Amino acid sequence: MAAAPLRPKSWRESYTEHKEIVAPPHCNHHGTVFGGHIMALIDKVAGVVAMEHCGSPSVVTASMDRVNFFRPVKQGQMLHLQARATYTGRSSMDIYVKVFGKDLSHPRGEPWLTCEAYTTFVLVDRDGRPVRAVPPLLLETEEDHRLYQEALARREARLAQRK
Ligand SMILES: CC(C)(COP(=O)(O)OP(=O)(O)OC[C@H]1O[C@@H](n2cnc3c(N)ncnc32)[C@H](O)[C@@H]1OP(=O)(O)O)[C@@H](O)C(=O)NCCC(=O)NCCS
Repeated sequence: MAAAPLRPKSWRESYTEHKEIVAPPHCNHHGTVFGGHIMALIDKVAGVVAMEHCGSPSVVTASMDRVNFFRPVKQGQMLHLQARATYTGRSSMDIYVKVFGKDLSHPRGEPWLTCEAYTTFVLVDRDGRPVRAVPPLLLETEEDHRLYQEALARREARLAQRK
């Protein structure tokens, strides 16, 4: 008997945010946050999105395509991560993460984009093999379609590189 089709899900159902104040152990000798600390947070937050989207904790990080750092965040300032699904394949999910800095000592100070990243997670079984059971992503807005097409182009570039 064929498996029942998976219910398409909006990215809003798994959208995840994380905020923290930059602490001394996460800073370099310039007093700014380590890129590696931000990357670990990106991996965690994007992982939560992937788990929630497919309703399973069994996901692994397959790749981080691109991580661009634009502006530093200093000790005592806030990191604010926002992560959303942009594309789903059969077993994979692309998650886009934006990271903002904010200085809470300037209440009217605007947050700034410090970093963005494109990640891919894969749903796996107990033996670590991909499971083709990721719910399709609902595309509702123009932005949803644009992000989906961009993720598709990154996927095609990755596949071409693999060959
Ligand atoms: C990710 C992993 C499960 C993929 O296994 P695989 O045998 O290469 O799987 P396949 O070639 O059948 O690809 C399965 C899916 O993963 C995607 N994929 C595989 N490698 C990828 C990569 N490097 N980047 C992005 N997507 C990738 C494929 O496009 C495919 O997507 P689809 O099912 O939506 O079409 C495997 O490479 C792995 O276990 N990697 C280690 C993961 C890990 O330890 N991460 C860090 C700790 S969580």
